[in-house]
Amino acid sequence: MLGKKLMNIDIKGIRGEDCACDALIFLFPEDHPGDLKKLPRPIAPIIQQVFSKEFSGKQNEVFLLNAPDSVKPRRFLLVGLGKKDQITAEKIRQAGGRAATYLRSMGMKKVALTTDLLYGLKISPAEFVEGALLGLYVYQRYKADEEKKSLETITLLAKSTRGLTKGLERARIVADGVCFARDLVNTPANDMTPTHLAKAASALKSRHLTVRILDKKDAKKLGMGAYLAVAKGSREEPRFIVLDYKGAKGAPVVLIGKSITFDSGGISLKPSEGMEKMKYDMAGGAAVLGVMKAVAALHLPIHLVGMLPATENLPGGTATKPGDVVKSLSGKTVEIINTDAEGRLVIADAIAYAKRLKPRAIIDIATLTGACLIAFGNETIAMMGNDRKLMDALKKSGELTYERVWEMPLFEEYKEYLKSDIADIKNIGGRNGGLVTAAYFLYEFAGDTPWVHLDIAGTAWAEKEKPYVPKGASGIGTRLICDIIKELQ
Ligand code: BES
Ligand code: MN
Ligand code: ZN
Repeated sequence: MLGKKLMNIDIKGIRGEDCACDALIFLFPEDHPGDLKKLPRPIAPIIQQVFSKEFSGKQNEVFLLNAPDSVKPRRFLLVGLGKKDQITAEKIRQAGGRAATYLRSMGMKKVALTTDLLYGLKISPAEFVEGALLGLYVYQRYKADEEKKSLETITLLAKSTRGLTKGLERARIVADGVCFARDLVNTPANDMTPTHLAKAASALKSRHLTVRILDKKDAKKLGMGAYLAVAKGSREEPRFIVLDYKGAKGAPVVLIGKSITFDSGGISLKPSEGMEKMKYDMAGGAAVLGVMKAVAALHLPIHLVGMLPATENLPGGTATKPGDVVKSLSGKTVEIINTDAEGRLVIADAIAYAKRLKPRAIIDIATLTGACLIAFGNETIAMMGNDRKLMDALKKSGELTYERVWEMPLFEEYKEYLKSDIADIKNIGGRNGGLVTAAYFLYEFAGDTPWVHLDIAGTAWAEKEKPYVPKGASGIGTRLICDIIKELQ
């Protein structure tokens, strides 16, 4: 977890050779070390010796070597950035994650970063720090033998702190939001029930952030029949969580996060293989909480509401059965053909509830379909919606944060797929086009309220670690939405 071992970050205006630390980090593009004359004299020949031999500067390549006694750092770490003309902020974040996790594994505690190359490229060292903070995340709540190795301090060697302090502050707050989301998602479903999730949300209360929890009775009174149909099979009480951050006046932007704390499929039971992963079916809700936490800490001038329709989806004597018809909050009746298509049911009621606030826009984020995972693997968020401007802005934010989104169509022909013989709509559209018909179902509830849906089924869980995403919950969505908020203020 992040909280316990917070890494210190400081800025010093000294030269690399004068910085006492366990390791001094240098970033290098591929194939050419650049102008070695710019490096401090005792360092240049050492780097020249290994460059193009032991180390070539390929992206995320690392090489650790002893520093001579004449300088204060004890080691040098060379980190590769790949081709010089292709270096982006993302490559620097990856370098940060790679360098930090590698140095931690080597037992280093105090490290420093030379920043000349970054300033030359006009990329903020805060990107490197963000990658480091995200990469160093570990989840060890249930481990008796805690990992003892930890990086304590990273010092940025920069001539001026101008702009940097603010960038670092933002990087830390956003990374903290991501790690908060990861903790929630990694926590197993027996300890991350709707009630627990509501507690975690309530802990975010502050002067401008209020939290309201609706229980089963409240939801019944409101008429949230679609949401309650999912909750019916479980003994765990559902919790419909509403967070209201008032950083500005006016109509809110509403974020809805799918929050199925465990998805067994219900009566339409899933196969047991891999079912343990369905604790991550609340990753959308976790991302929303990560965003609310970060936005409040950053005091952003926006009116932002977060909604988490939280419940388990379990089979049982009281569970919803295939063929049941329920009345949703919008008034539309839904024939539930498959109880495993539960995410769209809870989000449909959340959308109807959100619309009562006359929002400027609704963004829902959900581990909605297996079809998303099949179409995009672990790399891409699927996006669909009815608002061109918002979708274009999200695409841009996706590229900046590298939480990339790809748009899929909502052609009107898909409406047919969801026609029910006995109700207004049915909850599945058949096997084909499953990614799109799930979104089309939500579209029927959004109507003409500006709305975008993000399917994170493929990206919320990392099967393999990446430079700044350890295996397990990725916390995806938090950085993307924190970025888009710039456009919505
Ligand atoms: N939570 C699942 C989607 C999912 C699958 C997320 C794999 C992450 C990884 C969702 O509730 C679900 O079960 N969807 C069904 C819908 C189907 C019954 C129409 C699916 O995709 O199989
Ligand atoms: Mn399901
Ligand atoms: Zn689900």
